Amino acid sequence: MHCTRKIKEDLYWVGAEDRRLALFENIYPIPRGIAYNSYLVKDEKNVLVDTVDYSVGRQFLENIKYVLNEEKLDYLIVNHMEPDHCSLIEELIYKYPEMKIICNNQTIRMIKQFYNFDVDSKVQIVKEGQIFKTGKHEFQFMMAPMVHWPEVMVTYDITDKVLFSADAFGSFGALNGNLFNDDIDIKKQWISEARRYYTNIVGKYGQQVQNLLRKASSLEINMICPLHGVIWRNNLEYIIEKYDKWSKYEAEQKGVLIIYSSVYGNTENVVNTLANYLGEKGIKDIEVYDSSNTDVSYLVAESFRYSNIIIAATTYNLGLFPAIENYLTDIRRQNLQDRTVSIIENSTWVPGIVTKEINKILSEMKNIKILEKTYSIKSSAKDFEYENIKNIGDEVLNSL
Ligand code: FEO
Repeated sequence: MHCTRKIKEDLYWVGAEDRRLALFENIYPIPRGIAYNSYLVKDEKNVLVDTVDYSVGRQFLENIKYVLNEEKLDYLIVNHMEPDHCSLIEELIYKYPEMKIICNNQTIRMIKQFYNFDVDSKVQIVKEGQIFKTGKHEFQFMMAPMVHWPEVMVTYDITDKVLFSADAFGSFGALNGNLFNDDIDIKKQWISEARRYYTNIVGKYGQQVQNLLRKASSLEINMICPLHGVIWRNNLEYIIEKYDKWSKYEAEQKGVLIIYSSVYGNTENVVNTLANYLGEKGIKDIEVYDSSNTDVSYLVAESFRYSNIIIAATTYNLGLFPAIENYLTDIRRQNLQDRTVSIIENSTWVPGIVTKEINKILSEMKNIKILEKTYSIKSSAKDFEYENIKNIGDEVLNSL
């Protein structure tokens, strides 16, 4: 049974949903599933924009067959060669032997790496700014290297003012029948997963995303069709502004993110007392996460969101608690910048290790301001040490 949608004159969504996959890229939990979007533009020559993951291949092939309705598939535009979008290329070659692949110089190398068919005889190479006509429609190609792989390009349908944006503007989460941004409450139902997708998948490449935003700003765009998540057909400035902020590593809101590890509850006790103090002082935006039971992808996303981060960590095997170390190396890897950080440590044997280790990682990141007040808990906090918590809280308050 086909599962397709006409989303504009000549333009069809032929993607598919996967709610079985537990970990996207075998790393990121996707409790709400994932959508693999693919688009078919019907014209004198029919053109498909990207394919899908192999896991949903059967649905995808049925969708294409239904929309083509016995017509030929003439072209496949490959914007991105990550296998969640390119897995069905070989099947399409066999099913539609006349089909040509439109891609750039970088892409052809990757097709050869992933596949064994005679790639050169099937490929038509395009360059930056080149225009390609299928009849009524004219497509223009723009290179977007490292958003998210080096070969990535985006395709602009000049005729309908549609941007096929590859991974950009995508999100985790299956579509559940609501394909468009205005079908759902974006702020309540969507933006947290779009942020988690962006920060973990593309977060490291802020400069390259800025380059793409600059190119896209010269286009008149009516619709953004990403490879994952909802299709944007209005209020485009909302998601573009988010991308602008995220790719500049600017915090979305002034607020306090507290991330802790606690083996026997003593560090957690200090964290709760500190959060309570900040709340009492009127801070509304406070989020507290236990690093042991929160997947690090959520912590990365929240770190991109908030201006201030408090890290409260226990010593473990004369080093950092592993979940905290994993969190810190991940935000360093994702290039997070321009945040204000406070540090609390807990040790029973040797004080100072945690603070030193956290400082070392943060010093390798750009524009991280580490606040002066610290608190070195000796196993558990005592009432007479409340002043330490108050001092940290007051310094955070002043820095907001
Ligand atoms: Fe959804 Fe970079 O692939």
